[in-house]
Amino acid sequence: MYSNIIGQNNEGEGITKINGIITFVPFALKGDIVNLNIIKKNKKYNYANYTNVLQKSIERKEPLCQYYYECGGCNLMHQIYKYQLNFKIDKVKNNFKHICNIEINNLKIEYDNEYKYRNHIILSVEKDKIGFYKNKTNQIIDINSCLIASEIINKTIKDIKLFLSKYPNNNIKRISIKSYDQIMINIESDNFILIKEFKKYVNYHSLYINNNFIDGKEKCTVHLKNIKYEISNKSFFQKNTNMTIKLYDYIKDNINKNENILDLYCGVGSIGIYVGDKCNKIVGIEITKEAIIDAVYNAKLNNIKNIKFICGKTEENLDNISNIDTIVVDPPRVGLNKKAIKNINKIKPKKIIYVSCNSTTLCRDINLLKEKYKIDEIKLFDLFPNTFHVECVSVLSRKA
Ligand SMILES: C[S@@+](CC[C@H](N)C(=O)[O-])C[C@H]1O[C@@H](n2cnc3c(N)ncnc32)[C@H](O)[C@@H]1O
Repeated sequence: MYSNIIGQNNEGEGITKINGIITFVPFALKGDIVNLNIIKKNKKYNYANYTNVLQKSIERKEPLCQYYYECGGCNLMHQIYKYQLNFKIDKVKNNFKHICNIEINNLKIEYDNEYKYRNHIILSVEKDKIGFYKNKTNQIIDINSCLIASEIINKTIKDIKLFLSKYPNNNIKRISIKSYDQIMINIESDNFILIKEFKKYVNYHSLYINNNFIDGKEKCTVHLKNIKYEISNKSFFQKNTNMTIKLYDYIKDNINKNENILDLYCGVGSIGIYVGDKCNKIVGIEITKEAIIDAVYNAKLNNIKNIKFICGKTEENLDNISNIDTIVVDPPRVGLNKKAIKNINKIKPKKIIYVSCNSTTLCRDINLLKEKYKIDEIKLFDLFPNTFHVECVSVLSRKA
């Protein structure tokens, strides 16, 4: 049956209506007319695949990646980039409207390279195959390269493939490749005994096996402008290095001189250290022990003396904190929990800068903050081109 696609859901899938029932169609775009097969029926919505496109949307393009429709890594590469950006703006606006009952006008998005931006990918391995799992299967789509990953990651994939072809009985399950100023590799395996052989084929700065340091240097460095961070394997760092500079500059612009700052979910101290020279004092809180060790080291490395760190859960470490002007929060996709929000409200900062990679949980949390805080500005940063994800920064100020 032929159907008109009328929009995209939060995951970028096409939306149509069949007999009045909302139907999601992966890889379909607003303006497409497609021939559909319903593949899954639910009470509230259906899922369908299309067999052919009768009329192409003006937003459609041929994806550059040969693995795109199977690989499961990206989901918007069939959409011209400027329309991907519009989709992300509309998605965040809709979330604010439907979840918070707040209309956002004039929402801007910052962006940069559409390809070669990712500094970290995790690939599955089976014998001599390496790649992502085909959507909802355990079949690996064997890749030679990944268009959204950095050039140096792609060079490393090539080296690893050569190694895998020589040693298919390698017992490797997954490989994480990070490209900061240098390459960091973590191999997941029940029994990896080919370290010497791996080293002959693959150039790396740091090698970990099952998150245990094995060879090279324990940490890699990454530069954001003149700031240098050292990062160990378990520590989080933003996946798009160029865009992180734009993101952190925006956060810094929204902090006034000589403020006291709380940097919650601080990772390796990256935001606190970036804004350090503008602030009076900063306290960072982070759950991962290794990241806090890196954070303390990074503060020294950059001669930031007005910062201290607490290792633990944000929600459990806010009781004794007071005299804070601005709280920066940058939680994982699940957002803030109620206890964290309650304690943030108790601290009564003048401003909250909420950095979120999931606008649904962001809006849920803003609902709990909006009695005392109003939104001054929201800005988007496309850290994840060709996927439906987008980083959203909300600047909130305390109501009088
Ligand atoms: C999205 S990252 C942000 C890190 C950092 N702000 C940055 O820009 O690199 C979220 C961080 O929160 C940490 N985390 C997760 N749950 C936490 C919790 N309950 N309390 C404190 N930190 C937590 C993670 O380990 C991770 O480092």
